[in-house]
Amino acid sequence: MKILVTGGLGYIGSHTVVALSEAGYEVVIVDNLSNTRIEVLDGIESIIGRRPTFYELDLRNELQVVELFDKEPSIEGVIHFAASKAVGESVENPLLYYENNLSAFIYLLKQLAVKPKSHLIFSSSCTVYGQADVMPITEKAPIKVAESPYGNTKQIGEEILKDTVKVSSGLSAIALRYFNPIGAHASAKIGELPLGVPQNLVPFITQTAAGLRKELAVFGDDYPTPDGTCIRDYIHVVDLAEAHVAALTRLVKGASSSDYEVFNLGTGKGSSVLEVIESFEKVSGSKLPYRIAGRREGDVIQAFADTEKANRVLGWKSKYSLDDALASAWAWERKLRNLD
Ligand code: NAD
Ligand code: UD1
Repeated sequence: MKILVTGGLGYIGSHTVVALSEAGYEVVIVDNLSNTRIEVLDGIESIIGRRPTFYELDLRNELQVVELFDKEPSIEGVIHFAASKAVGESVENPLLYYENNLSAFIYLLKQLAVKPKSHLIFSSSCTVYGQADVMPITEKAPIKVAESPYGNTKQIGEEILKDTVKVSSGLSAIALRYFNPIGAHASAKIGELPLGVPQNLVPFITQTAAGLRKELAVFGDDYPTPDGTCIRDYIHVVDLAEAHVAALTRLVKGASSSDYEVFNLGTGKGSSVLEVIESFEKVSGSKLPYRIAGRREGDVIQAFADTEKANRVLGWKSKYSLDDALASAWAWERKLRNLD
C-alpha cells in the first residue's frame, strides 16, 4: 500500500519512513526542505536499502498538491508531519504558522476527502493540554487555551480534521499527541537536525557535550516538583515511529471504533531536567556543564502521558528507556561532528 509521508525528511518523519518501509508499506515522501537537508534521503536509503520516491514541493501551493495526487493516484494513506514547530517563532510570526500548519493541511484534506477510501494520521502535540490538572494525562483531559500560535495550530488542526471526517464518507483519521520525542536511529544515520541554537533540551545537551555550546541553562529549579525542575515525558523517536505504523495499520484494517480517534504517545514516565542531565552523564561518561537559570516563559511544570489507551487499543508500547534514547542522541551528535 502506498503511503504519503509529508515532512518525511524531517526528524520524526524520517524515522517513520524507515519504520513504515520495514513494515512493508511503499512510501512517497514530500518535503520542501525548509527545516531539513536532502542528505536525510541518503540516510534513509542506506538504512532500508532503497531510495523512496521523493518530491520536493511546498504544500502551501495547492496546485502542486493537486498535481501530486494526479501523479500518485494510488496513495491510500497520508501521515502528515509537515509543519513549522518553533514555539517562539510562532509568537513572532503567527501568520507563517497559521498558513504553513493549517492551509497546507486543508489542501491535503481536500484531496483525501474526495477519495472513496483514505486514511490520515495527524501530528498533534501534548501542548494541547497546557498545564493539565491531573497527572498522568489521559486523552480525556480538557484542552486548555493555547499558549502560542504554534499550540493553537495543533488544536485547530484537530478540529478541522474531526469536522472533515464527519462529512467525508471514505476518510478515517487518527490524531497522535506526542509528548517529548528525543533520540535517533540506532544506526546514527538519521536523527534530529536543529537549525541554529537548539530550543529543545536534548539537542542543547548533546551540542554542549560536543563543545558547540558553553553550558546548558536549566530553566528554573523552583518549580513544585521533587527536585524543583520541570518534568516531561521523553519518548524515543524510534518508539514514536513504531506507533505511527500501529496507528496506520489500525486505519487500514478498518479496526477503528470511530472515524476519528486520538491517542497520547509517551512512555508514561516523567523525568525532571536534572534527571535527564544525570542520565546523559551516565551514558556519555562525561560531566555536562550547566547552570541554573530563570524560568522560561510558557513552560508547564509537568506533563507526562497516561499511555493506557495507546497500549491497549494500538497494541503498542514504548520499548526504550531514557538512557537508551539519550545514548542514541549522543551517538548521532558525535557522528554529525565527527567526534569518534
Ligand atoms: P521537523 O521540522 O524536523 O519536520 C517537519 C518537516 O516538514 C521538515 O523536514 C520541513 O522541511 C517539512 N515542511 C515544513 N513545512 C512544509 C511545507 N509547507 N511543505 C513541505 N514540507 C514542509 O519536525 P518534527 O520534529 O519531525 O515534527 C513533525 C511534526 O510533529 C510536526 O507537525 C510537529 O509540529 C509535530 N510535533 C513535533 C514535536 C517535537 O518535539 N519534535 C512534538 C509534538 C508534535
Ligand atoms: C517544547 C514546546 C512544545 C513542543 C515541544 C516539542 C515550549 C514552551 N514548548 O516543549 O510546545 O510541543 O517542545 O517540540 O517551547 N529546558 C532547559 N534548558 C534548555 C531547554 C529546555 O532547562 O535549554 C527545559 C525546559 O524548561 C523543559 C524541558 O527542558 O522543562 C524540556 O524542554 P523542551 O525540550 O524545550 O520541550 P518542552 O518545553 O516540553
